[in-house]
Amino acid sequence: MAPRVFATRRFPERVRAELERSFELEVHDSEWPPEREELLRRSAGRDGLMTMLTDRIDDGLLDAAGPQLRVVANYAVGFDNVDLDACTRRGVLVSNTPDVLTEATAELTLALILALLRRIAEGDRHIRRRDPWIWGPNLMLGTGLPGKTLGLVGRGRIGSAVAHLAEAHGMTVVHTSRSGGLPLGELLESADVVSIHCPLNSETHHLIDARRLAQMRPSAVLVNTSRGPIVDEAALAVALAEGQIAGAALDVYEREPEVTEALLSLENAVLVPHLGSATLETREAMGMLCVEALRAVLLESRVPANALNPR
Ligand code: DGY
Repeated sequence: MAPRVFATRRFPERVRAELERSFELEVHDSEWPPEREELLRRSAGRDGLMTMLTDRIDDGLLDAAGPQLRVVANYAVGFDNVDLDACTRRGVLVSNTPDVLTEATAELTLALILALLRRIAEGDRHIRRRDPWIWGPNLMLGTGLPGKTLGLVGRGRIGSAVAHLAEAHGMTVVHTSRSGGLPLGELLESADVVSIHCPLNSETHHLIDARRLAQMRPSAVLVNTSRGPIVDEAALAVALAEGQIAGAALDVYEREPEVTEALLSLENAVLVPHLGSATLETREAMGMLCVEALRAVLLESRVPANALNPR
């Protein structure tokens, strides 16, 4: 009998077809996540799970799934939704989706930097409101990229890809990282654009808070395409409203999908709904990595290349 897999969201068709080819598949066939109770109930008795960053994978879920569960393929590169220790204790392998979303997320980061510095979202709102305008030497002046300093908070795969794009646009890139680079305070004081590319964990929760925002230049902007809770969103709204910094672009939110009310009316905030990896090619490739991980563990009894807790 084919291994039993529960996938917690609707995927691109090609991914679903591949899953169906190898497994007895049950899908939560919706654009919305299952309620917790449904997630637990439908995970029961499965050999593998394909989960989203919106599903909490913890002892409660692992208990509900049962001891036959062998693999959780998490459809994201970030895995802050997964209690990795709990999975490891039970011998459940966890995989993520590195590499395939690097370029897409870097592209979105650059798009957000440009949207801020060239006031694209603001201009779009201006037109839609039917506010009067005529071309003029001073209309909605922004700033260009060449000669500006990009400060990367974290320089892993995505940070490095952003650096590559930024350098191609004439920016100077500095970074913090676990293995060196500038101290965070120094980076914040020197960067025109600060972009966050570190993972969310207990050390990076509210890494960018009121004190850190105050270290940024008044002309600088902040971009976050990593995880929302790295930025204290209430403190950010105050910094933007009071002109302590010039702008911010967020793809991710502290209490996603909720957005701090005060941000919504700020012209110097660009807000998009967690679109970093949102291209069809990328979402298919992420899905195929999950399929490969499920196949490796459940059909070939082998550890997948992208396992996060290989023994
Ligand atoms: C991830 O993969 O961690 C993104 O946030 C969603 O693609």
